[in-house]
Amino acid sequence: MTRLFAPLELRETSIPNRVMVSPMCQYSCEQRDGLATEWHRTHLGSRAVGGAGLVMTEATAVEPRGRISPEDLGIWSDEHADALEPITEFVREQGSIPGIQLAHAGRKASTSRPWEGHGPVALDEGGWTVVGPTDEPWPYEDEAPSTERLAPEEIESVVESFRAAAERALAAGFEVAEIHAAHGYLIHEFLSPVTNTRGDAYGGGFEGRTRFLREVTEAVRSVWPEDKPVFVRISATDWLPDRESWTVEDSVRLADRLAALGVDLIDVSGGGIHPDSSPEQTGPNYQVRYAERIREETDRAIAVGAVGGITTPEQAEAVVANGRADVAIVGREHLRDPYFALRAAQALEATDEIEGPPQYRRAFGF
Ligand code: FNR
Repeated sequence: MTRLFAPLELRETSIPNRVMVSPMCQYSCEQRDGLATEWHRTHLGSRAVGGAGLVMTEATAVEPRGRISPEDLGIWSDEHADALEPITEFVREQGSIPGIQLAHAGRKASTSRPWEGHGPVALDEGGWTVVGPTDEPWPYEDEAPSTERLAPEEIESVVESFRAAAERALAAGFEVAEIHAAHGYLIHEFLSPVTNTRGDAYGGGFEGRTRFLREVTEAVRSVWPEDKPVFVRISATDWLPDRESWTVEDSVRLADRLAALGVDLIDVSGGGIHPDSSPEQTGPNYQVRYAERIREETDRAIAVGAVGGITTPEQAEAVVANGRADVAIVGREHLRDPYFALRAAQALEATDEIEGPPQYRRAFGF
């Protein structure tokens, strides 16, 4: 028996195996309205056909100005939830668990798609004024878009947007809600002393800087049913050892606090807060050790997901079997191969441990 294909029970949710599709922006709402398109249905649907136990959507914006690009997915109205519902239905029909990453891009919002340069989109070209913990913009090489500091009552309204988005996500049929608190987007901008220099209750020390995330978590948890799991994706470290920044020790402390608020799994990523931030290590498993540390060092039991450079079945199995993480989160390899989990089952001689679509069974030798 493998560990990768053993189910993971979180609350009443049984995730059939430990392969998760990492959230990945598709920049494919061509009408710039945040509504899921045929692309999203095919993209997420084929990863479910491919056998992943959990299929997570891309960063899905809780309000329009929280989109990284104008073409990002959103969930700020009931129409958005309706557009996502056929996707969750299809994912469930394949035996996978549908998850949604709820996000706000903060000061890194309003940028063009990577294949169009990824620079700021001007206001007269469909861009918008971005928001952050301060009015300090992301340090673009060229002209930065204007950034507005969120006042406390505006923070409250963003927290409310996360709550309303979670309610809609539930109505759309999602089983897991993941709060995006990583990669230098709004919540991470509040967590990190690199970007949060506020002097009020949302800044200062660890308590103040984590307040916004704790409030968002409480808001999401308040509407997400008791029997369904909530995840939080964090950047375990800012990778900026030369200045005061967010560290793995902070992440361990945060994970304990989040566990107390009813979070079931920490999805452990890294970096993104500043252009100078760069991984200490790249290549296979480059972030797994942070997941391992959080799993080992938290006082409360909390599941962790490891992401970054997991590309082979043997690696995914080893990450889980060696107790380094509870879930192997696979990003780019899922873009190269939507059937990563089915192929992994084949490679690990575990085809009797996974259902697999009957239509494809003979091709995979089930
Ligand atoms: C990403 N990543 C990402 N992360 C996230 O939390 N929300 C998102 O929407 C996205 N979008 C996204 C788009 C694309 C095209 C890529 C390649 C990546 C990061 C991703 O989930 C993952 O953490 C990294 O790619 C590292 O894992 P892999 O690719 O090495 O398995």
